[in-house]
Amino acid sequence: MRRKWPISEERYFGIGVFRPKTAENIGSLWRTAYVLGADYIFLIDAKYKKQSSDVLKVWSKIPLFQFDSFDSFRSSLPYSCRLVGIEQDKTSISIKEYEHHCRAIYLLGSEDNGLPKEIKEQCHELIELPGDSSLNVAVAGSLVVFDRVNKLG
Ligand SMILES: C[S@@+](CC[C@H](N)C(=O)[O-])C[C@H]1O[C@@H](n2cnc3c(N)ncnc32)[C@H](O)[C@@H]1O
Repeated sequence: MRRKWPISEERYFGIGVFRPKTAENIGSLWRTAYVLGADYIFLIDAKYKKQSSDVLKVWSKIPLFQFDSFDSFRSSLPYSCRLVGIEQDKTSISIKEYEHHCRAIYLLGSEDNGLPKEIKEQCHELIELPGDSSLNVAVAGSLVVFDRVNKLG
């Protein structure tokens, strides 16, 4: 079947965090994600608390999904969509050379422990930002979204 729409319409992305600790970080991440075009946001093993850093009340504009566990999140992945872990790891692809997929879900780890090994292993791929020390989780997520917008338009 011939496509009757531009390929740029075959794309979306979501971004979320596994076991976030700090509500202010989450509010900041939601705000950036929404402004830069995220289609949905999510939390795994955490409940959203209303947060003053989420000045736009992003949860009222795009869906905010809350999953009880990584397994329930993983089993709900949309068809033909990549799960991309954002994490410093020896197997991670540098963001500089990374080509974003049209349909992607970006997953960040908690402030204290990052993404557990068993979750990293279930991501289709891991990507990392430069630097020897880890960044704040909201900053890391925002930079990845910014990179996606720059590369995919
Ligand atoms: C504060 S960091 C976690 C640090 C944790 N203590 C550790 O050593 O794994 C919180 C989250 O931010 C993201 N993050 C921070 N810096 C990053 C980087 N340079 N590249 C990719 N992700 C990063 C990851 O998702 C990480 O799980």
